Amino acid sequence: MEKTEKYELLVAQVKSLIEGEDNAVGVMANVAALIHSTMNFWWTGFYIVRNDELQLGPFQGPVACYRIGLGKGVCGTAWQRNETIVVPDVEQFPGHIACSSESRSEIVVPIRDSRGEPCAVLDIDSRELNTFDDTDSHYLEQIAAAIAPTIANGRA
Ligand code: SME
Repeated sequence: MEKTEKYELLVAQVKSLIEGEDNAVGVMANVAALIHSTMNFWWTGFYIVRNDELQLGPFQGPVACYRIGLGKGVCGTAWQRNETIVVPDVEQFPGHIACSSESRSEIVVPIRDSRGEPCAVLDIDSRELNTFDDTDSHYLEQIAAAIAPTIANGRA
């Protein structure tokens, strides 16, 4: 199946998976599991904005660092800029935080509250270079928008 087709299906599955659910942690856990298993990524998970830092949320993959500061690493930079960041080669990204030495490329997508401010980020790592492109950004941003109200307003 083409990447676009996989993502079309994935977005529809995410929407039906989260419908009517207000358990933010549960939604993040299930959405991480669904994206991870569908797309075969190396690490798929969430960092949540809490106490002026990003704190590790539900994820699939190897263990990861607990806290990331504003402007630190790819996640902290996506949070600070409030925009999606695609990193074709993590070794070329100044300040990249290597939670896993196997990670080669990465995408981080902000999840915004009703004021448009990031309340979390979706972080995905690949073991191959150049995994992520505009197609990934496009569909992962759709997923981020779909789950944003639950994460911003849901039970922690
Ligand atoms: N590489 C990320 C840190 C999180 S791990 O990839 C799970 C970064 O530079 O922000």
